[in-house]
Amino acid sequence: MDFNKLAKAHLRDLTPYQSARRIGGHGHTFLNANEYHKSQLYFFNSTTLNRYPDCQPFELQVSAADYVGLRPENVLISRGSDEAIELIIRTFCEAGEGIAIAPPTYGVYAIFAQANDARVLKVLRGDSFTLQAESIVQAVQAADFKIKAVFIDSPANPLGTLFPREELVKLLSALPETLIVMDEAYIEFAPEHSCVQLIKDYPNLVVLHTLSKAFALAGIRCGFTFARPEIIAYLLKVINPYPVPDPVAQIAKQALARGGIELMQERVKEIVKRREELRGHLQTLSCVAEIFPSEANFLLVRFKDGPKVFAEMVQRGIILRSFEDKPGLENCIRITIGSAEELDEVMRVLTTLA
Ligand SMILES: Cc1ncc(COP(=O)(O)O)c(C=O)c1O
Repeated sequence: MDFNKLAKAHLRDLTPYQSARRIGGHGHTFLNANEYHKSQLYFFNSTTLNRYPDCQPFELQVSAADYVGLRPENVLISRGSDEAIELIIRTFCEAGEGIAIAPPTYGVYAIFAQANDARVLKVLRGDSFTLQAESIVQAVQAADFKIKAVFIDSPANPLGTLFPREELVKLLSALPETLIVMDEAYIEFAPEHSCVQLIKDYPNLVVLHTLSKAFALAGIRCGFTFARPEIIAYLLKVINPYPVPDPVAQIAKQALARGGIELMQERVKEIVKRREELRGHLQTLSCVAEIFPSEANFLLVRFKDGPKVFAEMVQRGIILRSFEDKPGLENCIRITIGSAEELDEVMRVLTTLA
């Protein structure tokens, strides 16, 4: 794959902004970045908050690489995976080119594409929302504009389903000049299905991870892009000079240390258990028409009267996510797996409607 041909033409010769931190240098007196010379310790327990952070804190790149079994040069750290999604579009799509998505899917792909003057090709899913490599390949090849990246969430949001590895391999081989972006935001809930190792064999694969879901750190905004170093280098030309605040890097490193990963795995077990308990309870209710399979921390439920359920919940102060306006998802509501008490409350209200 020729990464230079794939990226926007004008980025080829662009040198990323050479911040003081990127230029670096060994010394004891640093007067090169117009920073204050002392840390205001009372803001946060850190002695370095007066300084700009590294663009890519190396220790965190190492932690993220170790976590998935790749190398630090395969890692880009960003403000959540949302920032990575936009960076990919901004780096690779010229005006008039675009991305492919398979709705229903995470809404941000299309929004960022539109905001960046990129076009969006919608690939049709098959029966029960299944997604085949062949339909994506056919749609991409038949498109009247150039598709630079295909975005697939696996587990998918809001469907909760996985894109099978065999299908991904077919797709990667059939579209070697297109980036295939696997958004694995929820992969900790189905870790054996991660495709991140395929990066070693397929240069066109990009995998996104986040600390926002199973790691319970949505508030720090930290996500990871795993890809070939050439792709990472292009994204680094476009990224904000200081995307990872130092407190974020410190917290993220703790999350990816052994203790943090073990805690996360405990949480995942509990969430998966509660998800299946909720499924069992929902199956007994007459107001429920269909419960989708889920490999994530939510259940997508089709009710007989979705808008009524949603309105009733709002009345009681329970906010769920309605997908009423999405084609094929009429009457569907996504319920995040919260605490046992929160789900009991949901069930209590639903029982009154059943
Ligand atoms: C599939 C998917 N990808 C990415 C994200 C965004 O994650 P982050 O918080 O890392 O920006 C979400 C958030 O809901 C998501 O559902």
